[in-house]
Amino acid sequence: MEFTTKAGSPERIAAGCVAVGVFEQRKLTPAAESLDRAARGHLRDVLKRGDMDGRAGATRVLYDVPHLRCERVLLVGLGRESEFGAKQYRDALRTAVTAVADTGARDAHLCLPELHVAGRDLEWKLRHAAIVAADALYRFEETKSKKSPARKLKSITFATPARSAAADRGLAQGRAIAAGMAVARDLGNLPANICTPAYLAAQARQLAREWRLRASVLGTRDMQRLGMGALLAVAKGSRQPPKLIVLRYDGAGRGVKPVVLVGKGITFDTGGISLKPAAEMDEMKFDMCGAASVLGTLRAVAEMKLACNVVGIVPASENMPGGAATKPGDVVTTMSGQTVEILNTDAEGRLVLCDALSYAERFKPQAVVDIATLTGACVIALGNVATGLFSNRDTLAEELLESGADAWDRAWRLPLWDDYQEQLKSPFADVANIGGRPAGSVTAACFLSRFAEAYEWAHLDIAGTAWVSGKNKGATGRPVPLLATFLIGRAAK
Ligand code: BES
Ligand code: MN
Ligand code: ZN
Repeated sequence: MEFTTKAGSPERIAAGCVAVGVFEQRKLTPAAESLDRAARGHLRDVLKRGDMDGRAGATRVLYDVPHLRCERVLLVGLGRESEFGAKQYRDALRTAVTAVADTGARDAHLCLPELHVAGRDLEWKLRHAAIVAADALYRFEETKSKKSPARKLKSITFATPARSAAADRGLAQGRAIAAGMAVARDLGNLPANICTPAYLAAQARQLAREWRLRASVLGTRDMQRLGMGALLAVAKGSRQPPKLIVLRYDGAGRGVKPVVLVGKGITFDTGGISLKPAAEMDEMKFDMCGAASVLGTLRAVAEMKLACNVVGIVPASENMPGGAATKPGDVVTTMSGQTVEILNTDAEGRLVLCDALSYAERFKPQAVVDIATLTGACVIALGNVATGLFSNRDTLAEELLESGADAWDRAWRLPLWDDYQEQLKSPFADVANIGGRPAGSVTAACFLSRFAEAYEWAHLDIAGTAWVSGKNKGATGRPVPLLATFLIGRAAK
């Protein structure tokens, strides 16, 4: 889909569809007002008949509106004007794009960015317009033999009050972030028989070629040499060799320390010998969504040409039961030298991450953020709305929360207090890999914190936000918007 901006009023637009908003109680927005005037009151006549009251989510397509050059007018309900904010703006965009794509229009002119959204500027409105539109139009059909017919809709123009560099910048950022989300969604949606650790490595190399990034991939032997006993312990039960993928973007001078993103890349999590129950186990193909978000974010950052350095690290492995698999009670030595008693082989995410976090030290990072579908407990705590956030620095935590709020890809902070470390005590090793039922997400983060003492670090638990279950099952592309927004901020510093 092509996205552009266009300044000026909508009444002379000759597009296949012009979309304008209507607030509750049939109040026309300025763009709708202009169309109505040009059409000599036709819109108001329609509203009077009671077919569109402006309720949020309502749409109405009008054909052959007199004196207008467009083929269709789409009325989009916006709800109450007094309640119109970021969420309502994004919902209205999604509704409009979905409704337009359902018509035969080949191009659309959306007037929604003219609306006032409290606390948000034009750049924000355009950024979100591109992200929401692309997100709404996303389809995953790589694994279907019959593809749905190509969309008639080829381009969307977003109306702006005047020509504006900020609007164009916002749109460009939105395009890049949307493309990064699509990368993350595609990788997440692919089944685990296709998306293996080797496949992820090949995709990283492909991204490197397309976006002038640098990719390198460590194999089993390299991991042995580095002493990554925890990562190797997870991979032992699988026939698929593990990979440690490093993807680098250099957008600032060599003296600028990089931000390191570490993404959990378990391409399938059976639980290992601590086998998971059968129900919904297919969803454990999404256990590499942290990795996918790292690759997607690097693509977005490269497209935006941000003035920062970013290193993406993906420890990729399957977690399988097998004759050689790690057993409960096994003790392994991590790259950091700390020993871990693996009491539950299903707590494998923290095992692959801990060695990746130690590996991150060599990049002398300004900050490290890991992203992981780490705990079912996080889904219980925060549901599918907020990502769990943990950090060893308040400033970094605030910055990430702020980025998530701006990107409408929100996180919520949970504590990382020392008091919880008690639960990880082991009689046989320096630390156990599980901390019991209470505060499962916190003890998982506490485990990771022991390997992240050398730098400013944050951990995002995306177990509830990386994909949706049910009839619309699929990867969401989160938290690419949060991460990209965070890096836009870091690049500006
Ligand atoms: N990948 C899972 C976490 C998960 C489960 C995410 C369900 C989304 C939905 C992780 O590897 C895992 O199995 N965690 C265990 C940890 C436990 C054994 C301490 C969990 O959450 O049950
Ligand atoms: Mn697991
Ligand atoms: Zn897992």
